Amino acid sequence: MAYEKTYLKLRNLLKQVYFRFHKPKKLNFPEIMSIELTTICNATCKFCPHSEILNKDKKRVLVMSEPIFKKIIDESVGHKELKMIKPSLYGEPALTPHLFDRLRYIRKKLPNVKIRLISNGSEMNKDKTDILINERLCDEINFSVDADKKETFEDFKGLSWEKVLTNINYFISKNNQNKKPVKIILSFVCTPENKDQLAGFKKRWKGKVQAFHIGSESGLKRRKNYIQKKTSLYCSQIFDRMNFLSDGRAVLCCLDAYGEVIVGDIKKQSVSEIWNGTAIQKIRKLHLEGKKDQIPLCAICDEWY
Ligand SMILES: C[S@@+](CC[C@H](N)C(=O)[O-])C[C@H]1O[C@@H](n2cnc3c(N)ncnc32)[C@H](O)[C@@H]1O
Ligand code: SF4
Ligand code: SF4
Repeated sequence: MAYEKTYLKLRNLLKQVYFRFHKPKKLNFPEIMSIELTTICNATCKFCPHSEILNKDKKRVLVMSEPIFKKIIDESVGHKELKMIKPSLYGEPALTPHLFDRLRYIRKKLPNVKIRLISNGSEMNKDKTDILINERLCDEINFSVDADKKETFEDFKGLSWEKVLTNINYFISKNNQNKKPVKIILSFVCTPENKDQLAGFKKRWKGKVQAFHIGSESGLKRRKNYIQKKTSLYCSQIFDRMNFLSDGRAVLCCLDAYGEVIVGDIKKQSVSEIWNGTAIQKIRKLHLEGKKDQIPLCAICDEWY
């Protein structure tokens, strides 16, 4: 517990220093794009709002249509600012129908853009891993592990610990045989239930994967009282990242699980129009003026990337 506290405190301190002295990027096009290919998920992670999104956001669909997906990708061709696509938001990408065709399309149209998959690991089985690695359909994969004990993991996520371990270990061994390995990241969201397992998690996987991503539970599911440390710092996400929900609407940031702050719609606008549109410009201005509390989602947010 002391380890987790010190780690997160240090991380937040570094973030504060960084954002105090760095001006936000001025980009004509997003650097990172999240595309919610599906909202289907087989897990029940206690900290994740996934189970409520279809109830709370009636416009959300289970699978992004091919024309919407292709419009986003086609309109991104030629934009050198775009560095990475994350083909997920709230859902499990391994359960996306036609996942590999979607990834192949990104590769064909945007060969220089990195693809980062973020997966709970339970459906990333041998067959899928073989295709992903043999065709190198992603550059990075983040497995969201979030625990180091079977009981906590299963209670917390509703998935089989053994299955996820088997899949991740297979991915690692297959990847090690590859000339150009995929970067494997394991993530751990610290919550009251699992925070004593962070050190064990790191020990288990150290040297086997390329990176860890340790985060704290954000107030997405409103499980606890989120008292944001009052800061006038801007949030970098709105200056470098764009997030598409499965129905094609663009939201403020990756934490906008219920589509509360819509900044555009790919069915009616182009990616560039949304990125440079008045909705997001107004929000950026508020952040730069130290008034991000005027945006209800930002006012209760304890993340400011
Ligand atoms: C929403 S999931 C979607 C991808 C996939 N289903 C997965 O779990 O990896 C993306 C990431 O968000 C994280 N996440 C979900 N709820 C969170 C919360 N309340 N605070 C911080 N991270 C959260 C998950 O652990 C996961 O790494
Ligand atoms: S974190 Fe990922 S795996 Fe867990 S419920 Fe949310 S979308 Fe599903
Ligand atoms: S402050 Fe929080 S809610 Fe606001 S844009 Fe950043 S991550 Fe999203």
